[in-house]
Amino acid sequence: MGFMDKFSVKNKKIVVTGGAQGIGKAVGGILAECGADIGIWDINGALAAETAQTIAQAHNTKCRAYTVDVTNPEQVAASMAAFVSDFGTLDGVFNNAGICQHKDAVDLTPEDWTRMMDVNTNAVFFVAQAAARQFIREGRKGAIVNTASMSAHIVNIPQRQASYNASKAAVVHMTKSLAVEWARHGIRVNSISPGYIMTEMTGTVAKDMRDFWTGLIPFGRMGAPEELAGAVIYLLSDASTYTSGCDMIIDGCFTNI
Ligand code: NAI
Repeated sequence: MGFMDKFSVKNKKIVVTGGAQGIGKAVGGILAECGADIGIWDINGALAAETAQTIAQAHNTKCRAYTVDVTNPEQVAASMAAFVSDFGTLDGVFNNAGICQHKDAVDLTPEDWTRMMDVNTNAVFFVAQAAARQFIREGRKGAIVNTASMSAHIVNIPQRQASYNASKAAVVHMTKSLAVEWARHGIRVNSISPGYIMTEMTGTVAKDMRDFWTGLIPFGRMGAPEELAGAVIYLLSDASTYTSGCDMIIDGCFTNI
């Protein structure tokens, strides 16, 4: 076995949350292209089914859709049981589902704030916990990659998104905390912090705001979701067996200045 084989995700059984579109879909597709079998977990079951079919056909791997609201711990536990029954085991999770809202903090309703924390922070914990329980049951040294954001590290302008930024900062520290707690089981927990990535989420933002962002990015462009796949593969693979509690910022140098 050569060193490059350590980067392989071939035959790994991986759950991708928020995988129906955007970053989850792109990274899930590349994981499948690299030989992994994928479970697409998404609240949008119809789109998840379409995406799973596209990925399975394109890469001749097993890819199944699960309709799951990751904010609901019972649904998360049931989906984990269904995934393990369908795939036989769990090797890794790309814990990526998330939402964004642009609204002045003084106008946020309690529901706005709570919804953001439910999806972007609480659900990340529920999915990580369900994965860790499964890894421990199997005695498996599984890996979890959470999607945080550069917004965990800086305050974006001009949009007002205090709830989003706080929810993502929590993901970074949750990642470090779970990494330390679960180190004794050999479970690794890392996060990626993408910069501005062109997806359905950012595609709905007015063009003049996107142009403003682009003007601030040293690379002079937004990222493509596929440009996150290398980091996710590395963190899910045996190439990173001594890496845990790490947050990888992938932002075209946005946070360097
Ligand atoms: P997106 O909106 O294109 O896709 C998000 C997916 O998550 C959708 O398929 C949606 O149905 C699913 N989802 C939302 N709530 C859910 C729930 N409760 N249960 C299950 N699935 C749910 O967004 P995008 O851009 O692909 O973002 C993915 C992740 O990356 C999010 O966590 C986001 O905050 C993060 N991110 C995105 C950046 C960007 O510029 N697009 C930058 C930094 C982080």
